[in-house]
Amino acid sequence: MAEIVGAYFTSHVPAIGGAIHKGLQQDPYWKPFFDGFDKVHEWLAQVKPDVAIVFNNDHGLNFFLDKMPTFAVGAAHEYHNADEGWGLPLYKSFQGHTELSWHLIEHLVESEFDVTTCQKMLVDHALSIPFELAWPDVDAWPVKIVPFAINTVQHPLPSAKRCLALGRAVHEALKTWQGDERIVIIGTGGLSHQLDGERAGFINAEYDKFCLDNLSKDPDALTQHSIHEMVRLSGTQGVEILNWIAARGALGEAAASEIHRNYHIPISNTAAATLLLEPDALVGA
Ligand code: DHB
Ligand code: FE
Repeated sequence: MAEIVGAYFTSHVPAIGGAIHKGLQQDPYWKPFFDGFDKVHEWLAQVKPDVAIVFNNDHGLNFFLDKMPTFAVGAAHEYHNADEGWGLPLYKSFQGHTELSWHLIEHLVESEFDVTTCQKMLVDHALSIPFELAWPDVDAWPVKIVPFAINTVQHPLPSAKRCLALGRAVHEALKTWQGDERIVIIGTGGLSHQLDGERAGFINAEYDKFCLDNLSKDPDALTQHSIHEMVRLSGTQGVEILNWIAARGALGEAAASEIHRNYHIPISNTAAATLLLEPDALVGA
């Protein structure tokens, strides 16, 4: 029987990749952010996942404004990284878990989530940087991945309620999966940030705290705001919290415990956060 070991969430600001490349982890600007990962490393070494289901958003690498799926699911054997313009080093490729991808896709479509299936998919900083943070200095990633790309870019965006339901449908699908993997759920992006327009640099620590406080015990609380309210509360790119909400859904409806939180303002334009949740009861998949 497969087991969901927990969920790991982090911001994915591209500048983090530059800091890793330059070895700036102990630099006073970066230290408070990177220090939040000691616990993540310890936890991953303890729970030893071998598959990651990753909720992130594409930043123009696979999909641009001319074609934008609301929910896209990777079903590729391999996922290569590419730089969509930040000048970051190229990161290691990822191995896919195609059988699990198709199992999830079939269950999701049966459950009336009309996802876009991607047998070819590139991954950008939103996926590579959280992995570089979680498993620094490994020669090959210790997990196979199933990536989900949620549209957080081109309006209309899916509602928080719909993203939570998508994650919960993934959780239901995992219950009929016959494998015996140890699965970690990952959500990337956020927290509050706005990169452009009159409110560039906007950060809302109060709303971020509301999201962090409720993700473990009452994720439905995050669905009370419409997308436009979320943009107002968290900034135009702060809506990447939708990835976290979907990931929380995939952990299941049961209560979860927060085992680690780090919150630091700012990294680049972003309120950067890292969070670990564990399901209260063993979640068999
Ligand atoms: C930044 C944050 C992001 O989430 C992103 O995708 C790109 C840039 C930033 O704060 O610089
Ligand atoms: Fe982003």
